[in-house]
Amino acid sequence: MKNDLDLFRSIAEDLMKAEEKEPVLRPEAPEALFTRLKISLSEEGISDSEFEPILRDLVLNTPRTATRKFFNQLFGGRNSKASLGDLLAVLLNNSMYTYKVGGPMVGVEKELLHKSAQLLGYPASADGTLAPGGSMTNFMAMLMARDKAQETARSKGLDGAKLTLYTSRESHYSIPKNAAFMGIGRDQIRYVNSDDQGKMRMDHLQELISEDRANGHQPFLVIGTAGTTVMGAFDPMEGIAEICEKESIWFHVDGAYCGSVIFSDTYRPLIAGAERADSFSYNAHKMLGTPLSCSLILVKDKRWLYESFANDADYLYQTDGDDYNLGKTSLQCGRRNDAFKFWTLWKSAGTKGLAEIVDRQFELANHALDYVREHPDYTVYSYENSLGICFNYKDIPADKLCNQLYEAGELMIGYGQFHGDEFVRLVTVNAGNEKEDIDRFFKLLEAFADKMN
Ligand SMILES: Cc1ncc(COP(=O)(O)O)c(C=O)c1O
Repeated sequence: MKNDLDLFRSIAEDLMKAEEKEPVLRPEAPEALFTRLKISLSEEGISDSEFEPILRDLVLNTPRTATRKFFNQLFGGRNSKASLGDLLAVLLNNSMYTYKVGGPMVGVEKELLHKSAQLLGYPASADGTLAPGGSMTNFMAMLMARDKAQETARSKGLDGAKLTLYTSRESHYSIPKNAAFMGIGRDQIRYVNSDDQGKMRMDHLQELISEDRANGHQPFLVIGTAGTTVMGAFDPMEGIAEICEKESIWFHVDGAYCGSVIFSDTYRPLIAGAERADSFSYNAHKMLGTPLSCSLILVKDKRWLYESFANDADYLYQTDGDDYNLGKTSLQCGRRNDAFKFWTLWKSAGTKGLAEIVDRQFELANHALDYVREHPDYTVYSYENSLGICFNYKDIPADKLCNQLYEAGELMIGYGQFHGDEFVRLVTVNAGNEKEDIDRFFKLLEAFADKMN
């Protein structure tokens, strides 16, 4: 192991130097790249001296999401303390299903969940778990809502009742995908219209629910989004809570993108009312900058976690009781320790440090929004309090601009659509970025686009 740890250190140092010099790589055609990097596997192994350059080459030719020019997704940058925690979690290689195997890491996970629940405003009896990504924490919420609505679903399967769920048109695609997985069916999703800023419209939500009830359907779930994927909009959580309580429908908040506002006194009001939701999920690997993946789901009444996910397994659960055997509330059996990287970050930065990270993301977004608003060459599609700044520059089609920037190895940025417009989406979620990086981004984009024209 010692030699491999030395090799790790040497490759990591090379990578960080390369990231400084060349933050974005020019793409190569897949098959040519796979051949050049000697990815194919053979019957015979190779010596360490042959292995080392292949490994180094592979690492140095992989897209660089940790650099200041990566704006393509809802994550980016590298948080050092969180990376340290994740590296140690790999070495420890625990599985989080039992206290016997997870030991203090069970305490680490429970502490993250309970402190998060407190910040959200849940009662002390709330609980939660982690799953591999926001799609899967949404899935867990959807399953709990289904099992509450149809108590026999777990034992006998769905009984033909037409369960219907409601979410905005701007919500994440994991919702229809999960509806198919869970036997509800994609067609049972009702897409609620959004207003000009991309927020779910309460009048339309109420109208759809009433219409479905009149037609013999069983409304069972509303999913509100805290930070829609493209526009970064926050649905009105108080309004959704009001309707769900009146109609006795499960309310889930998908905060994968921006649920981390729970840490900030300034931005928590954007989700006022989320504490009335039955469940709430957020990704520390997006706004907070931990390595992928780190998605938490909090459940106001922990009973529903057990109802949907507990299953006896005599070979596994032999000591310590359900409170410490986290497999009883999780989607998986063997489960990676995704909590530790978040804990190392939170422990070192404190809750105040996490609030600063959240506030800085909005500061960068506001800086970018001011810039595009002040420059007449930009058409702006975004509003206040969004981490995705959407714009077009000099009417250049967004797909052409983003794809050419990628092909030239200049910047990694993507595009999106909203209410019939297509535009560049600048995501300011990048753990390492400062205002100067945003300024540099615009200068680079303008210089490149002006050459294209
Ligand atoms: C609003 C929203 N929900 C869920 C997800 C899915 O999260 P993950 O990529 O961790 O599965 C995303 C991803 O971008 C998202 O934007």
